[in-house]
Amino acid sequence: MSRVSWLEVVACRCYFYGSGLVTLVLLSVFPAVERDIMAESVAIERVHTGIPGLDHVLEGGFPKGARVLLAGGAGCGKTICCGQYLYKGATRYGEPGVYVSTEEPPQEFRANMLRFGWDFKKLEAERKIGMVDAVYQRVETEIAEQESLQSILYNLRSKLSEVKILVEQLGATRLVVDSLPGFGFRVTDLNTLREIFLEVGLLLKDVGCTTLMTTEIVEGSGLISRYGIEEFLATGVMVLSLVRQSSVIRKVYVRKMRGTSHSLNDFAFTIGREGVELKGPIGVRSVSRQRRLHSPRRKRRSRR
Ligand SMILES: Nc1ncnc2c1ncn2[C@@H]1O[C@H](COP(=O)(O)OP(=O)(O)OP(=O)(O)O)[C@@H](O)[C@H]1O
Ligand SMILES: [Mg+2]
Repeated sequence: MSRVSWLEVVACRCYFYGSGLVTLVLLSVFPAVERDIMAESVAIERVHTGIPGLDHVLEGGFPKGARVLLAGGAGCGKTICCGQYLYKGATRYGEPGVYVSTEEPPQEFRANMLRFGWDFKKLEAERKIGMVDAVYQRVETEIAEQESLQSILYNLRSKLSEVKILVEQLGATRLVVDSLPGFGFRVTDLNTLREIFLEVGLLLKDVGCTTLMTTEIVEGSGLISRYGIEEFLATGVMVLSLVRQSSVIRKVYVRKMRGTSHSLNDFAFTIGREGVELKGPIGVRSVSRQRRLHSPRRKRRSRR
């Protein structure tokens, strides 16, 4: 049987970044693969992220059924990304979603999202969005510090079954868990945390939604999640951060996304009146700037 190597140009795009024009070419090399395997991988269904610019980085969106962890420090924009994913999903793509909040009460989330013109209350009334208040879950854990693992898991399972029922009732295909560590608030024992995350992971697999989960990164910890466990529930990981250059900029990179040929570049993003928007890759020099820098030197050399 003859073996063939394929070289396929997956995407070729132009970005306007800063003052210059950047041309970015993504190449994927498939060594010695058979046609039917390729066809299968090309056919992975995509779910639009609702974030301008991000679909292009992910070959069209999140792989359908993916469980994507958004990791980042406080105020990096995780919750807004999640809200945008659900809101755009419900209003633009006709895909209902469920938001599970373990951090801030749903009324706070609704009020914050309304700042972008995203009326979650209306979508809830129209049965396009479901809201699960899991904040009490952590309060319970807080009160009963000495609670046994069995009773923690009992409470957790009843909350998760509420999520499952809501997903089924709405026919939701999008799910957000904001945040994962919120389920283990005040739990210090790593084994208990593992059990908690295992339960959540089982639910996520069971419902089969395309899911965004958030976790926090503690500065200086060297980890990409709060406990170093959360990423094992995920089929994709995106890391958000704030960096101080001449001013503070927001950036994101896709650390992993199964079934997806993606850039590992940092991408700048903004949070504006319309929500989150991805800008150009950071650290890729603009073509026009390179020409300006290199052309004179080439000329000088040719004179010698
Ligand atoms: N209406 C708005 N317009 C522009 N920027 C906003 C607006 N609302 C919030 N922000 C910015 O977004 C940040 C909060 O974003 P978000 O709540 O998504 O962060 P987060 O990563 O979820 O934080 P946490 O870890 O505390 O949950 C604010 O600190 C602010 O910088
Ligand atoms: Mg948040």
